[in-house]
Amino acid sequence: MTAATILITGANRGIGLELTQQFAVDGWTVLACCRNPADASDLQQLCERYPSIETLTLDVTDYAQMQSLAAQLQDRPIDILLSNAGIYGPRGSNFGDVDAAAWREVLEVNTIAPLMLAQAFVEQVAASRHKLIAVISSKMGSIADNGSGGSYIYRTSKTAVNQVVKSLANDLAGQGISVISLHPGWVQTDMGGANAEINTPTSAAGLKAVLQAAGTEQSGQFLEYNGDAIPWQFSRRVAGRCNWLNRYQLSAICSGMLIRVGRDAACARCRASTNSARVATVSAAQPNPLAMVMKSGV
Ligand SMILES: NC(=O)c1ccc[n+]([C@@H]2O[C@H](COP(=O)([O-])OP(=O)(O)OC[C@H]3O[C@@H](n4cnc5c(N)ncnc54)[C@H](OP(=O)(O)O)[C@@H]3O)[C@@H](O)[C@H]2O)c1
Repeated sequence: MTAATILITGANRGIGLELTQQFAVDGWTVLACCRNPADASDLQQLCERYPSIETLTLDVTDYAQMQSLAAQLQDRPIDILLSNAGIYGPRGSNFGDVDAAAWREVLEVNTIAPLMLAQAFVEQVAASRHKLIAVISSKMGSIADNGSGGSYIYRTSKTAVNQVVKSLANDLAGQGISVISLHPGWVQTDMGGANAEINTPTSAAGLKAVLQAAGTEQSGQFLEYNGDAIPWQFSRRVAGRCNWLNRYQLSAICSGMLIRVGRDAACARCRASTNSARVATVSAAQPNPLAMVMKSGV
């Protein structure tokens, strides 16, 4: 049986370099893509130790180069296609200080390129055994997790790529291809900085386990490096009697915020616990959640 193959973008440093090493240690063939292989001394050293690593030139925003690489690799099944390359853009990028040109540049790398990569290599993934496309996103792209605001450029680029992942998961399901989005943790790299919570071996070991285990059940999900699912958004809202309004209401509507989900839900404004027998959970995706509450008899 031939060795499984992973293609990784941005494989010359940071998380991409560590993933390259760890997959090679596991016996995988690694198609390690980077912008300038001649300057990638750490990757070159890895290649000398692990012959199953092949270094390839790819700037993920050069779509002509991407197409010719896909043509060059047309007979190579790719079990995992991993969009890892990413940029943060100017630090800060807070309200009143957002550079539009820099924003477009970040969107090109973090959001558009992963879709172009999937389009370019879909046949090779479909021809493989594992059939997985994955994108290294970030929890900073999670709408539910955004409690501090700011960082418009990076946050939006990762939120948008999560939507790319979700659409790809739907569009490619018929070909048996799974598509997932990953959060690598806050990692000590050039991007994450020296004060980050975890090192690259810890992040990459977790990501590798998630990537190797992912299948159709995980397709369309946003997963942490430890395998935990990250909610795309608040998935449920709570309804119950609000003492402040003296009528049944969605807590999210009467208080402006959701404080608890489940049988012990309480209205954030009146602080009164709702009658648990009367608590309904309502999908936030429901176009008219209040109508659903009424229908549920709460
Ligand atoms: N570190 C964290 O805490 C953290 C947290 C959440 C998510 N992430 C995500 O994890 C991924 C890897 O980040 P990292 O921390 O390893 O960052 P990093 O150390 O800054 O490495 C970024 C990598 O992306 C490559 N890259 C950038 N633009 C490229 C382009 N146009 N074409 C090809 N490669 C390009 C870089 O190549 P060059 O050397 O040529 O620039 C480099 O290999 C990113 O998508 C990032 O957003 C990181």
